[in-house]
Amino acid sequence: MENHKLVLPINLNQYGYLFGGDLLKWVDEYAWIAATMEYPECNFVTLGMDKVEFKKSVKQGTILKFIVEKTQTGNTSVKYLVHVYRGNNKAMDDLIFSTRVTFVRIDQMGNKAPLPK
Ligand SMILES: CC(C)(COP(=O)(O)OP(=O)(O)OC[C@H]1O[C@@H](n2cnc3c(N)ncnc32)[C@H](O)[C@@H]1OP(=O)(O)O)[C@@H](O)C(=O)NCCC(=O)NCCS
Repeated sequence: MENHKLVLPINLNQYGYLFGGDLLKWVDEYAWIAATMEYPECNFVTLGMDKVEFKKSVKQGTILKFIVEKTQTGNTSVKYLVHVYRGNNKAMDDLIFSTRVTFVRIDQMGNKAPLPK
């Protein structure tokens, strides 16, 4: 799945670059949307993200591209790899962030539940 986001002034930190918390929110949201669209009968919560490392700053007005791919399914969990690129590119130089997000299916009581077969 592919999504885009425009970096607005409200998304900047005190130094004028993209605030990392906003990026993590978008990563979580787009990965959750991918999981929910793939398993429409499931309610998912985020269990965790793999390594979080901000190696490149992002300026206001940048259009970010989010590429979300499923990498693994377990009994109750599913993992999505999220790559974030600057602009409309997929070049390594424009890759600003990557992580893997794990979601767990929950039932109505908030307990983990098996994924559909
Ligand atoms: C999600 C939740 C119900 C899982 O319950 P739990 O008893 O902790 O679950 P488990 O430790 O048995 O793990 C459940 C699955 O997650 C996987 N998992 C556990 N810890 C993991 C980790 N650190 N990284 C990746 N996967 C992990 C397990 O392998 C298991 O997968 P499987 O069933 O596909 O084999 C519970 O942790 C919870 O309610 N967390 C809060 C979620 C939330 O509110 N998120 C929003 C952010 S605050």
